[in-house]
Amino acid sequence: MDLTTDYLGLRLKNPLLPGASPLVDDLDAVRRLEDAGAPALVMHSLFEEQITLEEAAEMADVDAHEYSFAEAATYLPTAGDFTLGPDRYLDQIGRIKRAVDIPVIASLNGTTPGGWTGYAQLMEEAGADALEINVYFLPTDPAETSADVEARLVDVVRRVSGAVSIPVAAKLSPFFSALPNLARQLHDAGARGLVLFNRFYQPDLDPEELQVKPTLELSDAYELRLRLRWLAILSACNPADLSASGGVHTGLDAVKAVMAGATTVQMVSALLRQGPGHFAEVLGFFNRWLEEHEYESLAQLRGSLNLSTCPDPAAFERANYLKVLQSWDGRPTSAKG
Ligand SMILES: Cc1cc2nc3c(=O)[nH]c(=O)nc-3n(C[C@H](O)[C@H](O)[C@H](O)COP(=O)(O)O)c2cc1C
Repeated sequence: MDLTTDYLGLRLKNPLLPGASPLVDDLDAVRRLEDAGAPALVMHSLFEEQITLEEAAEMADVDAHEYSFAEAATYLPTAGDFTLGPDRYLDQIGRIKRAVDIPVIASLNGTTPGGWTGYAQLMEEAGADALEINVYFLPTDPAETSADVEARLVDVVRRVSGAVSIPVAAKLSPFFSALPNLARQLHDAGARGLVLFNRFYQPDLDPEELQVKPTLELSDAYELRLRLRWLAILSACNPADLSASGGVHTGLDAVKAVMAGATTVQMVSALLRQGPGHFAEVLGFFNRWLEEHEYESLAQLRGSLNLSTCPDPAAFERANYLKVLQSWDGRPTSAKG
């Protein structure tokens, strides 16, 4: 089965990707992922806060790697909290490029247009084949409107896309009120791909200690549902390449994501849990499933259950909501055998 796919203008030998995570800090894991069939890699992000710390440290003539700038220290992580500082991040791009023959997608993560464009250019110079921009932002200011938030995101994408010649994808949150319109604006601003979605890490509360506890939990397959719906809707109305991120743990999950309209399918939690070797299993299943179901090509699978092609488009829309609620048979789940 020919699984070749074009994502962000890159020719990939299959649509499954290791998504942004610290896995790529380890060159041995990077090589194992390539051996397992990974057609490209997404690096974990260089964070805007790292760039800010570095610049602040330069202005104050202190070493950002040892000393965190006074104001930033009250709410930002210190430079030492990040795995790779900006310079080491750029070096790591070069190291990965030398270690493997597959394309490397670097990632920038922040909220403001600020100094991103400069780092995007440095990433391109360091050899990145594409960029993922992750605007992980939570509006907490009542004066800020949803239009402000969207405009800033579009501005970041426009500036970064305009500053580099490599393709740019935007990794989005699912929490926008009019995602199809935003997706169109982002595509018009230069985003060649959209990564659906960012996962927000929900802090828990410790009632005894009166503390907010940041927690990092790996995903489970249920999270794929949100992606499937939006892949199905956006792939029917937006020309950007769509990459699924969130809840893909098995080959069957990957089949579903492509059916819904994904051009590529990213995995992180499954690889962190089971190691880089798991990639080969997922890819093997994906390949076999297509063969066993007599698909002639990946293109035939892609989008075959999206909003414009599926037999029951209402299942993705409000009508389904009513149907699902009415399907409850009234018996407590504990009473069902
Ligand atoms: C330990 C860890 C580190 C991550 N680091 C990044 C990162 O640097 N940049 C980013 O965009 N996403 C990052 N992510 C999010 C993943 O790329 C991915 O979007 C998310 O985990 C959902 O995919 P999954 O269900 O396959 O895990 C990270 C996730 C984990 C678990």
